[in-house]
Amino acid sequence: MNILIINGPNLNLLGKREPHIYGTKSLEDINEELKKFGEDNGVKLDFFQSNHEGEIIDKIHQADVSYNGIIINPGAFTHYSYAIRDAIASISVPVIEVHLSNIFSREDFRHHSVISPVVKGQICGFGSFGYKLAVYALIEIIDGNGM
Ligand code: DQA
Repeated sequence: MNILIINGPNLNLLGKREPHIYGTKSLEDINEELKKFGEDNGVKLDFFQSNHEGEIIDKIHQADVSYNGIIINPGAFTHYSYAIRDAIASISVPVIEVHLSNIFSREDFRHHSVISPVVKGQICGFGSFGYKLAVYALIEIIDGNGM
């Protein structure tokens, strides 16, 4: 089983960026931990981060043929990128949306996700543990356990 984890803009700065909101682990630390978690659960995880909308869209298109599922934290694109939403709606592999912070307890503009209607589900507010929860959920979905 192959799963792609996509992180959007500014998430390359995790660890330094507003640590009181996003925590002190770098994206490399998080990905290293996730890689091991994937191995322990029989899943090969690949990672992609970009600050550019078009690159994220290209990756989503490519992932439709090379992965069994996608986990995406679209960063601020969550709140306004119809192009990323349409890319997700155009593919057939299951997609889960993850946010480190609880977007509903923050500024009003973060309360709305244009991505949520086209994904299997959204996980937010559990820090980097949310990516692990998403891996568990994707395993269930891909194995066809009724989700
Ligand atoms: C985020 C929440 C977004 O509102 C924000 O723009 C981010 C990170 C999160 O993981 O909590 O860049 O997606």
